[in-house]
Amino acid sequence: MKMKYALPIALLVSSSAFAAHTDNDWYAGLRLGATDYTDYTNNGSEATSAIDADVGGGVFLGYNFTNWFALEGGYTYLGDLRASEHIEGSEHITNNALELVTKFTWQTTDNLDLFVKAGAFAYKTDSNSSDDDGFNATAGIGAEYFFNDNISTRFEYQYYNNLALNDVKWDTHLLAVSVIYSWGAPKVIAPVVAPVVVAPIVEEKIEKVKEKLMQVDSAKVEVSFPFNSSILSEESMQQLMPIIEHLKAYPESKLILIGHTDSLGSSAYNQVFSEKRAEVLASYLSNTYSIDKSRMSISGEGERMPIYTNATKEGRALNRSVSVFSPSFQMEINN
Ligand SMILES: *[C@@H]1O[C@H](CO)[C@@H](O)[C@H](O)[C@H]1NC(C)=O
Ligand SMILES: *[C@@H]1O[C@H](CO)[C@@H](O)[C@H](O)[C@H]1NC(C)=O
Ligand SMILES: *[C@@H]1O[C@H](CO)[C@@H](O)[C@H](O)[C@H]1NC(C)=O
Ligand SMILES: *[C@@H]1O[C@H](CO)[C@@H](O)[C@H](O)[C@H]1NC(C)=O
Ligand SMILES: *[C@@H]1O[C@H](CO)[C@@H](O)[C@H](O)[C@H]1NC(C)=O
Ligand SMILES: *[C@@H]1O[C@H](CO)[C@@H](O)[C@H](O)[C@H]1NC(C)=O
Ligand SMILES: *[C@@H]1O[C@H](CO)[C@@H](O)[C@H](O)[C@H]1NC(C)=O
Ligand SMILES: *[C@@H]1O[C@H](CO)[C@@H](O)[C@H](O)[C@H]1NC(C)=O
Repeated sequence: MKMKYALPIALLVSSSAFAAHTDNDWYAGLRLGATDYTDYTNNGSEATSAIDADVGGGVFLGYNFTNWFALEGGYTYLGDLRASEHIEGSEHITNNALELVTKFTWQTTDNLDLFVKAGAFAYKTDSNSSDDDGFNATAGIGAEYFFNDNISTRFEYQYYNNLALNDVKWDTHLLAVSVIYSWGAPKVIAPVVAPVVVAPIVEEKIEKVKEKLMQVDSAKVEVSFPFNSSILSEESMQQLMPIIEHLKAYPESKLILIGHTDSLGSSAYNQVFSEKRAEVLASYLSNTYSIDKSRMSISGEGERMPIYTNATKEGRALNRSVSVFSPSFQMEINN
């Protein structure tokens, strides 16, 4: 993580964390590019012929004082200037510079910086017959992209004002790409932050899981059978529809089928018969509505559970039924 994100956290935690950042933020780079020359004059009169562009490049060392201000120094070769018509007895002037600049940075994203530079440079110029030196101002603008905390690349333009070789004067322009290695990158921060941040995150997660759980209510229906019969009537099939819809809607839901009989006949016969009724119903759900039998618990209670009144015809009919029951459960909602 680059300083942009680390910084607000560091300030929250302690100001000494921030100090660690500025302690040791050195970087070094290598740059290579093209040079060009303008405002070429010889003893005050302007050049008439074009001057060729050349290569340029150098090395530099920088130090971050803050995350927006740095000081940078280096050596730059500013190319070989060719203008034979204007320089008596020579064809070449080589340009060398030592520079010291201030760098102001705007961190636009986590990885991309924009910067301007301004400072001074000392030059040494050499032709075949003579040499000169001096100093003047330089300024630049560029962008720097960080591949990680340590490696970055820059694309920049830099202007060098008024180099000279005796009476001959010119300005130099450099367009260059750099590769930079940074060390002493921030190393504190992370462990201090962890306990502060983690607890709320866990609670938030629990809340989210809770929100995702839905209570699915139970569903129940009594399916009655004609006397001494395990054949499902048309009416029974109609009675089943709500629970079939429930089972389809909630594939996680389970089904309990308990068969009953009335008290006529032997209890052993009624036991088997009650199981048979439950089984008939289970098969019907499985075959007709593809509801897997693994979701069902099938049993018979025979005549042991006289839960309905013997006083009415309806009550007696209900004794000859299968209780179909889908218990409530908690369901996790996906998305
Ligand atoms: C440079 O120009 C000045 C006048 O501006 C002149 O006196 C001098 O002789 C010139 N020198 C050369 C080397 O041409
Ligand atoms: C130096 O500062 C720049 C911003 O000015 C920042 O992008 C870069 O990460 C810093 N380098 C180090 C090693 O901290
Ligand atoms: C000046 O020196 C360069 C090499 O540095 C050479 O190529 C060139 O021919 C020389 N010019 C003259 C006029 O001596
Ligand atoms: C820098 O260049 C300007 C011309 O642009 C000149 O007037 C000035 O004297 C130069 N500064 C130094 C310190 O040589
Ligand atoms: C950057 O260099 C520092 C040491 O200066 C090191 O601790 C860190 O792991 C390096 N990071 C990467 C991404 O190379
Ligand atoms: C029920 O039907 C079976 C034949 O399916 C018969 O043997 C039995 O006697 C009947 N029971 C009653 C109480 O009618
Ligand atoms: C139906 O259940 C009741 C209990 O509510 C019981 O007394 C009665 O004998 C049962 N009826 C039949 C026909 O088995
Ligand atoms: C329930 O009613 C039926 C006839 O309606 C009768 O034959 C039976 O004996 C009754 N059972 C009980 C337990 O009262």
